[in-house]
Amino acid sequence: KGCKLVGCGSAVPTLQVSNDDLSKIVDTNDEWISVRTGIRNRRVLTGKDRMTGLAVEAAEKALEMAEVDPNDVDLVLLCTSTPDDLFGSAPQIQAALGCKGNPLAFDITAACSGFVLGLVSASCYIRAGGFKNVLVIGADALSRYVDWTDRGTCILFGDAAGAVLVQACESEEDGLFGFDLHSDGEGNRHLNASIKENETDGSFGSNSSALGFPPKGSSYSFVQMNGKEVFRFACRVVPQSIEIALEKAGMTRSSIDWLLLHQANQRILDGVATRLEIPTDRVISNLANYGNTSAASIPLALDEAVRSGKIKSGQTIATAGFGAGLTWGSAIIRW
Ligand code: ACO
Repeated sequence: KGCKLVGCGSAVPTLQVSNDDLSKIVDTNDEWISVRTGIRNRRVLTGKDRMTGLAVEAAEKALEMAEVDPNDVDLVLLCTSTPDDLFGSAPQIQAALGCKGNPLAFDITAACSGFVLGLVSASCYIRAGGFKNVLVIGADALSRYVDWTDRGTCILFGDAAGAVLVQACESEEDGLFGFDLHSDGEGNRHLNASIKENETDGSFGSNSSALGFPPKGSSYSFVQMNGKEVFRFACRVVPQSIEIALEKAGMTRSSIDWLLLHQANQRILDGVATRLEIPTDRVISNLANYGNTSAASIPLALDEAVRSGKIKSGQTIATAGFGAGLTWGSAIIRW
């Protein structure tokens, strides 16, 4: 059985925050941020706007492009590390989209690798489980989890959502070829947003009993990152992973029309392209406008490139995500 990508969409918040804007709240400047990262602007959610609102907008656009009725969606995979609800946000998105055909909807948590994991999961559900129309949404609002006084992290991230519709098809039309997925929890210390230490150290609420519960409510610390380690990790594992996925797909580097990586840092995109000997005009990059939007970055960049006519029907894309966990993975797909 085959599966192919038949629609995409994306959404970003209205508020744009430039490097100059950031230099008013932390000790930084446009030159430092642009040279080290390639980022110039990012979009940030404000007021009552939520990640799920962006996710719904992106998914609606993907369904419209695919000309698929919401009632025909049988699976909604929301790739996010910043759900609006600790129990998961996918069912709320399913309801807001009006998917009433008794679908399954759940969250996948894998930070910046989330979308690639979602894409591969969609193909597995279609090939093994008889699902026909799978919405894969990558959406994150890391602005809510970064310390806006920490210039080492707050300059990097933005909020966004992107979505694709993956559809069952005949095997000759298959558009999801080889993939390669990994995780390494040993590297968690380099990038995390964990439950605050002092809330798991045995200091319980005022009505705690001798049994040691109930505990106090928990909250998460801001994003903690060792940028240099994450940078080195990405430049090392991503080219290897793409080579493995290509081999599984029975393809070579020359089969790649577009390199579409998680949009973390222009220097990472350039480093990976150099190692794979892919010319820079074959590398999709939009991080100057949006920063690192975590699980949203790949479908956001895909949607822009498809709608602008850059990526054309039938072209082969090597895509890869990498980030917290640590997690990483790649997939060779056809648009
Ligand atoms: N403005 C000005 N100066 C700064 C800033 C800033 N925003 N941030 C740090 N500096 C300073 C540092 O204090 C340091 O000063 P010093 O030399 O006097 O000590 C100097 O600049 C160099 O800092 P480094 O941290 O060594 O800079 P580096 O070149 O490593 O760049 C960066 C930092 C951009 C974060 C880079 O390491 C990076 O992009 N890493 C990868 C991050 C990433 O891609 N994460 C993806 C996963 S995200 C996820 O999964 C959620």
